[in-house]
Amino acid sequence: MCGIVGYVGSEAALGVLVDGLHRLEYRGYDSAGVAVVGDGAIEIEKCAGKVGDLASRVDDSGIAARAATLGIGHTRWATHGAPTGINAHPHSDCTGRIAIVHNGIIENHRSLAAALRERGHDLKSATDSELLAHLLEEGLSEGRSLSEAALEVLGEVEGSVAMVTIDRDDPGRLVAVRRDSPLLVGIGSDSAVVASDIPAILEHTRRVVVMSDGQVAEVGPGEITVFASDGAKVAVEPKEINWDLQSPEKAGYPDFMLKEIHEQPSAIRDTIRGRFEDGKLRLDEVHGDEGFLRNINKIVVVACGTSFHAGMVAKYAIEHWARIPVEIDLASEFRYRDPVLDDKALVVAVSQSGETADTVAACRYAKSLGARVVAVCNVVDSSMAREADAVLYTRAGPEVGVAATKTFTAQMAAMELLALYLAQVRESLSSHEIGEIATELGRIPGLVDANLESWSEQAKRASQSVGRSKDFFFLGRGVGYPVAMEGALKLKEISYLHAEGYAAGEMKHGPIALVEPGVVVVVIATSGHVKAKVLSNMQEMKARGATVLVIANDGDDAAIEEADFAFTVPEVSEMLSPLIDVVPCQLFAYEIALSRGLDVDKPRNLAKTVTVE
Ligand code: AGP
Ligand code: GLU
Repeated sequence: MCGIVGYVGSEAALGVLVDGLHRLEYRGYDSAGVAVVGDGAIEIEKCAGKVGDLASRVDDSGIAARAATLGIGHTRWATHGAPTGINAHPHSDCTGRIAIVHNGIIENHRSLAAALRERGHDLKSATDSELLAHLLEEGLSEGRSLSEAALEVLGEVEGSVAMVTIDRDDPGRLVAVRRDSPLLVGIGSDSAVVASDIPAILEHTRRVVVMSDGQVAEVGPGEITVFASDGAKVAVEPKEINWDLQSPEKAGYPDFMLKEIHEQPSAIRDTIRGRFEDGKLRLDEVHGDEGFLRNINKIVVVACGTSFHAGMVAKYAIEHWARIPVEIDLASEFRYRDPVLDDKALVVAVSQSGETADTVAACRYAKSLGARVVAVCNVVDSSMAREADAVLYTRAGPEVGVAATKTFTAQMAAMELLALYLAQVRESLSSHEIGEIATELGRIPGLVDANLESWSEQAKRASQSVGRSKDFFFLGRGVGYPVAMEGALKLKEISYLHAEGYAAGEMKHGPIALVEPGVVVVVIATSGHVKAKVLSNMQEMKARGATVLVIANDGDDAAIEEADFAFTVPEVSEMLSPLIDVVPCQLFAYEIALSRGLDVDKPRNLAKTVTVE
């Protein structure tokens, strides 16, 4: 999820680009770069670090073309290749004739890179994106225009692409192409700005063309020509943007938390993208040594907070699908409990930030005991990614809200893939079964997307009726248990209300003594082999006077009618249900926090990344 910007007009491009990148920095900030077309040459300045670092570098650099009026810029959130200066965009071809910036993921990058090297190309970076420059180079050398070449490249690459490119030999325009990553073109009177998002455009113009999938655009000062994937010209009408954003990076949402809740479909989609191909799971990051994976004697998952809850789901999935015993431990407990580990154990360390001190320390400790460590992280090249033997990245994009939302669903998706991958290696599931589950996983983002609005409405109504209560229980069994734990954690974190996540069957062993009128119980009762038992536990709560909210499948009248309030969710198979069921819980906590006038993005006493033990 990078930010890209391109400018063509009459002003000095460098200033416009750096300014635009500052406004897109919320999309990624591990490296940044710009390229401008000067006197017969493209000049590139790029570095690891934030846009501020790039800005100082541009100020101090020997860029000759300070007055250049055509250029592109990028602020990166790495998916392929560490966040180094070399991997920073823009990337160039072998001849230096063109430069590109890219937002997205090229799924078939391995085979394309191998073929390009074979054809004599010199690939300088470890990114998937650089390939685009070399593929364009080939198209140009065969006599195609830049936009024709760009369309052709779009046909060759699989995955998501928003690309803007400039040509030293055609200094009057930019070419932009998109599929599955956003790209907008602002058309001014004598300028144009291409960008991933509106904030980089608004200062220059309010007339914006939103490019559609598969289109390529030739963009000049004050003009745009768009072609469809078959090369036919498409008539486009810029629309007028008539809003001003106070915090543009929130993209119209009142806060980051709601924005990030709404980004869950794309976070899950990007995390599974390219990892199930031709009927097989391809977790190249993890496999290394399939012999080792075949002989693992146990897996230990270590994590904190929300990541721990994602790890709980992984335990159910790995044991169910891959039939490997799984222990799960809080990272802060793990290394003080004298765990029994040897070189046949696999430790899975789960962390959004990859910097949580307890989890980093747990990784080191596990390694010192001889275990192999796989990190599941959202931040490329974080401490944990560097410490671990292998990394499985979630691709949720930067998460700003302190309460984790989209990284939680991305972690669950990543670890369900890991569980299936282990099942594939150990042949505990047939390839047909794996294919069916992976296909269903691919449908989850669409289901979340289709229901977000109705869950928001349900959450608003539920918060109006129970928002003044002081005590909440969240109950679930099986994979509903981690959902209950996470639902309670969200409510505690942002609403400052007492909430407990509990295994539904455990209530009768003590906590039921707390249940009386006024207590709210949220029950995760979607389909699964323990649903009937969960519904009995729900009756036990009702019988003691609790107000009961249920998360139930659409049309499950038995569950819905017994509850005081219902969140309805589509039915999916049990192991995948947490990816859906947790979203109404997030929205419920969100609405209650809002009704209490609290700052959902920065809850009291918390920090996004806990780097102390
Ligand atoms: C989640 O809402 C919390 N902010 C917190 O529990 C978090 O999940 C925990 O600190 C672990 O962070 P990590 O995933 O970056 O390691
Ligand atoms: N895959 C590209 C890279 O790692 C772009 C990343 C993105 O758009 O998130 O450089």
